[in-house]
Amino acid sequence: MQKNILLTGGAGFIGRWVAKKLLKEGHNVWILDDLSNGQESNIAEFRSHANLKEFVEGTILDEELLSTLFAEHRFDICYHLGASINVQDSIDDPRTTFNNDTIGTFYVLEQCRKYNTKVVFMSTCMVYDRCTDEMGINEEHPTKPASPYAGAKVAAENMVLSYYHAYGLPTVVIRPFNTYGPYQKTGGEGGVVAIFISNHLKGLDLSIYGEGTQTRDLLYVEDCARFVVSAGFSDSVNGEIVNAGLGKDISINDLAILVTGDSQKINHVEHIHPQSEIQKLLCNSNKATRLLGWTPEVTLEEGIERTKTWIQQGGLQ
Ligand SMILES: NC(=O)c1ccc[n+]([C@@H]2O[C@H](COP(=O)([O-])OP(=O)(O)OC[C@H]3O[C@@H](n4cnc5c(N)ncnc54)[C@H](O)[C@@H]3O)[C@@H](O)[C@H]2O)c1
Repeated sequence: MQKNILLTGGAGFIGRWVAKKLLKEGHNVWILDDLSNGQESNIAEFRSHANLKEFVEGTILDEELLSTLFAEHRFDICYHLGASINVQDSIDDPRTTFNNDTIGTFYVLEQCRKYNTKVVFMSTCMVYDRCTDEMGINEEHPTKPASPYAGAKVAAENMVLSYYHAYGLPTVVIRPFNTYGPYQKTGGEGGVVAIFISNHLKGLDLSIYGEGTQTRDLLYVEDCARFVVSAGFSDSVNGEIVNAGLGKDISINDLAILVTGDSQKINHVEHIHPQSEIQKLLCNSNKATRLLGWTPEVTLEEGIERTKTWIQQGGLQ
């Protein structure tokens, strides 16, 4: 059935893929993004799609704007992706991250409570403590707010779940692992895969913070978007926390070699925030498979190829 959907952060990297999937499935979509890190060109591909009802340039911190949008469109589902996402920025300026990620989420929740709108809250694997188990991190794994970014997300997660318990609002917390693919920024503020590929294509050396033994479970963005969308349409995940990842981790050293094919092109530089680094991140997505029937489909090698092709074709304009 066609739904009215609010997508915050929809002009960002993952958000634009979520928008694309929702539009493909025939839903009415409103995008709210303040363009602090997103850009309109990310949604240019479907800007004239009849079901993309409106792109609103505005912030989730504007309660009046939220109130008007919800009153006018009575959203069935809110995919809440709008957030400050950079760990280092959150260390330098915790106020901005706390405002956007925690307070902003509270404002979104208040509107959802008023209109009984299902909430899909985009959290992150960065809330987890390091993993020591080869079975990977499941949702029972301890959290550790190693940065204000993680702290702000954990605080928001708790508010999101409290609205399920206290008001019976259908809400779900999702924790995708590190996501990469086309439309991710390739500059210093982007993701490790995009930065490595971009530097490699420019003939530059790859710089690794610290020893490079830290591992990441890398999820291709269309797999991530499929997971995000499915969480909005399933009652079985209400009141739950659900992970999604590839289920394989790779050290940053091995990732660099996979991208360049040449260990001579790799430099190790001093870590800028070693205290907030998580040494091992490996996802156990069994719960997503059980409750949503979700499994990742794109291998790391295939995802890197797709990302490389996109960057070679011009990348972000
Ligand atoms: N990239 C990853 O590896 C990853 C992994 C897990 C979870 N996440 C989460 O997924 C979401 C999307 O991340 P992304 O990687 O696409 O980053 P992104 O920065 O590209 O997307 C976030 C979007 O939110 C917008 N935004 C920020 N503050 C806002 C505000 N106050 N009001 C309205 N819009 C605002 C930004 O302009 C941006 O377009 C975030 O919530 C992030 O925490 C990302």
